Amino acid sequence: MAKYIVLLGPPGVGKGTQASRLSRRTGLAHISSGDLFRENIKKQTELGKLAQTYMNKGDLVPDDVTIAMIKDRLSRPDCKAGAILDGFPRTPAQAEALEVMLSGFNGQVNVVPLINAQQDVLVDRLGGRWTCRASGHIFNEKFSPPKESGVCDFDGSELYQRDDDKAETVKYRIVVYMEQTTPLIAHYRELGKLVEINGMQSIERVTQELMDALKNES
Ligand code: AP5
Ligand code: MG
Repeated sequence: MAKYIVLLGPPGVGKGTQASRLSRRTGLAHISSGDLFRENIKKQTELGKLAQTYMNKGDLVPDDVTIAMIKDRLSRPDCKAGAILDGFPRTPAQAEALEVMLSGFNGQVNVVPLINAQQDVLVDRLGGRWTCRASGHIFNEKFSPPKESGVCDFDGSELYQRDDDKAETVKYRIVVYMEQTTPLIAHYRELGKLVEINGMQSIERVTQELMDALKNES
């Protein structure tokens, strides 16, 4: 049966960093809703133009278009064995839609690691984040620097700073997370799927704890 992992946690806690490491280790597809929106913005699709108006402010993109985008992505062949979901679901309506979607793929959410860290750490990490233009590889000028400044280690493409990583927008994104996404914590805890991970540890240590959580689940 396909396996689906939902990474929960505030902006900057390391969901993208960890999802990509877990994807390399498990072979499961890494599905990042934020990256999918950013690809649409780059290509200037209708979805991209709509999403940009919300993302620039730090607001969530409406549920209906977000759900449709993820449903389409999860239907592709590389998700046959399951996926690591990074940034979706982010509202109770999205969580409900995901359950319906996965039952259609003969699966369910298996485990929900919640990665957490203090707010000042999140703001500090996002202030130093550099993202690769080609495929979204993630670096940090203090904590995980690229070998050559401004250049992605993996594909040589240019590194840039996300528009929504300005300190005021980051603080607002954290408020949006607290108001709209944290209700999912109780939901997945009640279902017995939540595993809490301390995101203030090193990137390697967090990966180790996530791998343990995945092993214990299967
Ligand atoms: P999205 O792209 O998902 O952003 P986010 O959830 O705000 O999370 P981030 O990507 O900022 O942080 P992260 O947890 O991935 O951290 P990272 O690994 O990069 O969403 C952006 C926008 O898209 C939303 O605001 C919304 O508008 C829209 N959107 C997306 N999904 C949506 C949905 N489902 N519904 C509606 N709207 C949606 O790490 C951060 C930095 O810290 C990096 O520099 C990294 O190198 C460093 N780092 C990571 N781990 C560690 C560590 N352990 N120690 C030290 N440094 C670390
Ligand atoms: Mg991310």
